Amino acid sequence: MSQPTQKRDSGYEAWLTYPALPQGQLHKEYMEWCGAVSVTEEHETIQAALSEWQRGILLMLGTESVQEPQPEGFCVAFGTFQGGNTLIRNVFAEMSTDAVGAEGFAIRTSFAHKCIAVGAAAPAGLLYGVFHLLRLLGSQKEIGQLDEIVNPVNALRMINHWDNFDGSVERGYSGRSFFYEHNRFVEDMGRITDYARLMSTAGINAIAINNVNVHALETLFISTYLPEVARIAGIFRTYGIRLFLSVNFAGPMHEGEVGNADPLDPGVRQWWQKKAADIYRLIPDFGGFVVKADSENRPGPFTYGRDHADGANMLAEALEPFGGIVIWRCFVYNCKQDWRDRKTDRARAAFDHFKPLDGKFKDNVILQIKNGPMDFQVREPVSPLFGALEQTNQVIEFQIAQEYTGQQRHVCYLVPQWKEIMEFDTQAKGGAAPVKHIVDGSVWGNRYSGVAAVSSVGNDRNWTGHLLAQANLYGFGRLAWNPELSSEEIAAEWIALTFGSDTDVAGVISRILLDSWEIYESYTAPLGVGWMINPEHHYGPNVDGYEYSQWGTYHYADRQGIGVDRTTATGTGYSAQYMGSNARRYDSLAACPDELLLFFHHVPYTHVLHSGKTVIQHIYDSHFAGAERAAGLLEDWRTLKNRVAEGLYVQVEERLQGQAAHAREWRDQINTYFYRKSGIEDAGGRRIY
Ligand code: GCU
Repeated sequence: MSQPTQKRDSGYEAWLTYPALPQGQLHKEYMEWCGAVSVTEEHETIQAALSEWQRGILLMLGTESVQEPQPEGFCVAFGTFQGGNTLIRNVFAEMSTDAVGAEGFAIRTSFAHKCIAVGAAAPAGLLYGVFHLLRLLGSQKEIGQLDEIVNPVNALRMINHWDNFDGSVERGYSGRSFFYEHNRFVEDMGRITDYARLMSTAGINAIAINNVNVHALETLFISTYLPEVARIAGIFRTYGIRLFLSVNFAGPMHEGEVGNADPLDPGVRQWWQKKAADIYRLIPDFGGFVVKADSENRPGPFTYGRDHADGANMLAEALEPFGGIVIWRCFVYNCKQDWRDRKTDRARAAFDHFKPLDGKFKDNVILQIKNGPMDFQVREPVSPLFGALEQTNQVIEFQIAQEYTGQQRHVCYLVPQWKEIMEFDTQAKGGAAPVKHIVDGSVWGNRYSGVAAVSSVGNDRNWTGHLLAQANLYGFGRLAWNPELSSEEIAAEWIALTFGSDTDVAGVISRILLDSWEIYESYTAPLGVGWMINPEHHYGPNVDGYEYSQWGTYHYADRQGIGVDRTTATGTGYSAQYMGSNARRYDSLAACPDELLLFFHHVPYTHVLHSGKTVIQHIYDSHFAGAERAAGLLEDWRTLKNRVAEGLYVQVEERLQGQAAHAREWRDQINTYFYRKSGIEDAGGRRIY
């Protein structure tokens, strides 16, 4: 571990940096309340909350929050309602605490009892409550009249790591794994502990620590390596986080004990039941399994002529006695498609596979559905499975890792994208059923529900490679906790906690973040068509990179036009997987929103968009403007020279320089490709090659 100052300047401390607050009236008021703290419980999670508190106060206010409140002075008190802290008991005496859920908290300023009390039903709620208060201080909010009950909206708030045992990270853009190196678990748990602190203060309560593509050695995480997995689970437990493992559906065969993996074979079922018992003996609060089956060459129930409900239910049965859950991914499609075949449409696959199974899963199975029907493109429609599954637990899967959105070399603040998806009205139950209420379980009254995302962290000093990509990590947690928070609010919180209280600085960073998704979209693949990237590593422009491939990812550009016909009359019929007016809107050339036009329709380059521009002119204009705006991000950042810590300044400057150059490359390749294909001149007469 390096010196604290180095950590602060490297971005390592992320939103736990707690920059010093300016002197003044507010500072004085904070000192009065926060100079002392009352905590009476020894529970490890409560002690962890206390040490977060003391650290935060020291850094922000420059004073210690001592543990001996004076009778005449004010203080802050933390405790569970049953925990015996008199201040907590007194402050919440006349209040019904029934509304405080297992992970929620109540916070109240009481002049009568001279304290700000944070009370919770269970220790984890205190961690969230303490960080809530620290966040209020860091964002310089009033604390003199606090009185609220806060509960997480989503029960499961999960991070999926795609870390491999050899230390590599699939789609990792910020260094190597900090869980494993060279097929071993790391010895030093320091970074994992700091990671757990970061995650829990962002509101995360579940983490799967290994890649959904489970290779040979990782298959043994549920046997040979279980003691080491348990060590990590112990760290997570302190911070209110349950550990999950991705498992190999063919595990029974791998370990040589059973000759097959047929989910209906009694021997296979027993094998999983025994494994579950072994796991819970060592990890009593183990979360459960994440499963990628029959997808991208992974084994699954199809081999045995069984369906996904058979597969998931077998695992669910094994975990059920211990309260564990199965998170079964819906990312199932034919990745060996023939590009000549115009009927098979990858976009249809998840719905076609899983809609018929609605109601067939055990109630400790959750289907994990990617936000869109393809694969985390900068723009794609919302998966039509949301709303279509009426009797099935489901979580949405986002990707914090910026696989298709600049790989943490470009800034792309994804919270606005996630918000847009969460707000999308699926029209289930006749309308007013936005995705956020499908995944919070309220539309169908599900037993389990929530939000998951693919992790973006690695062992780079600043966790996420691009410092500004931390905003996505923090933002995901916050949005999972409360989807009503706005993109602006989340950005403002992250900026205040990372960079401090200078409002001009905050204004610049906030603008960079909030514009960044639109900018990234504008210089990459146009109008929702997606996939114009280099195969395999997925970085940088390559218009035909996937055009003649087996992955089912096409744009069908020819000299007349471009786009994928997914309409019911002449196309793949994908548009009919939506409900009500969504289906009609996407199916209709006239009504389809511009940003998704090429996802649903094949049109001539001369087709006129709602914006009044032709498709080809839109491509030229957006790419010229996008590259220019990317360069503008660098200029904006440069106004912060000497106004943010040098170590933070230089790392972002370097990334933004790279982005500006790479955006020009995108611009020129995309524009040149379509100019050469269509032969149509740019109305602006700009340079195209
Ligand atoms: C994408 C990604 C893969 C990943 C897969 C998944 O295809 O490129 O690396 O394994 O998604 O979500 O399973």
